[in-house]
Amino acid sequence: MEENIIPHNFSITQRQRSDLKKHEPLLIWFTGLSGSGKSTIANALEKALFIKGIHTYLLDGDNVRKGLNNNLSFTPEDRSENIRRIAEVANLMIDAGLVVLASFVSPYREDRENVKRIVGYENFVEVFVNTPIEECERRDVKGLYEKARAGEIKNFTGVNAPYEPPIAPDVEINTTMISVEQAVTLIMKFIKKKI
Ligand code: PPS
Repeated sequence: MEENIIPHNFSITQRQRSDLKKHEPLLIWFTGLSGSGKSTIANALEKALFIKGIHTYLLDGDNVRKGLNNNLSFTPEDRSENIRRIAEVANLMIDAGLVVLASFVSPYREDRENVKRIVGYENFVEVFVNTPIEECERRDVKGLYEKARAGEIKNFTGVNAPYEPPIAPDVEINTTMISVEQAVTLIMKFIKKKI
């Protein structure tokens, strides 16, 4: 399918875009169960980066699934396609010079590996928001765990679909032990040398 596609060499390079912005691009990938606190931490981190003059963009599960990926379900195949498309979008944003924050359950290790392959290992930081399922279920902010336990949602991560935790995440956050501010400080410390 791709055989007759020949990319054009444009004049302005990624390096020039980054030089203009005065920082490097990066993808900060948040993975964890629904209700683990991924979006809350990503939102606070984006604010902290923005204040420092870093050009950011936040991609978030619920938002992307309402638009670009509104034809995808939560089967393993559709989740893989969801994550692949997001990785390709993030890759374009990296080319544009942005620091991208991506907050997705992304329960399969292989899908997360695919993201690293697409954007390049040097551009990828994995943040594991490791909140125990009991705590996510206790919070149940969206009422989804209750529905899943009642059998009203199929393939719900942690209830009737698997979550494969990262083996060696760059940053691991247990939200039952540390605050959002402390989580932001931890991530900032890790990404400082990269951007
Ligand atoms: S995935 O697995 O990465 O493709 O999922 P993602 O795109 O991040 O979407 C997760 C949000 O969709 C809601 N939701 C579900 N999550 C998990 N499993 C099932 N079956 C499901 N159905 C709906 C849920 O609100 C997730 O949002 P967060 O912010 O993670 O709670």
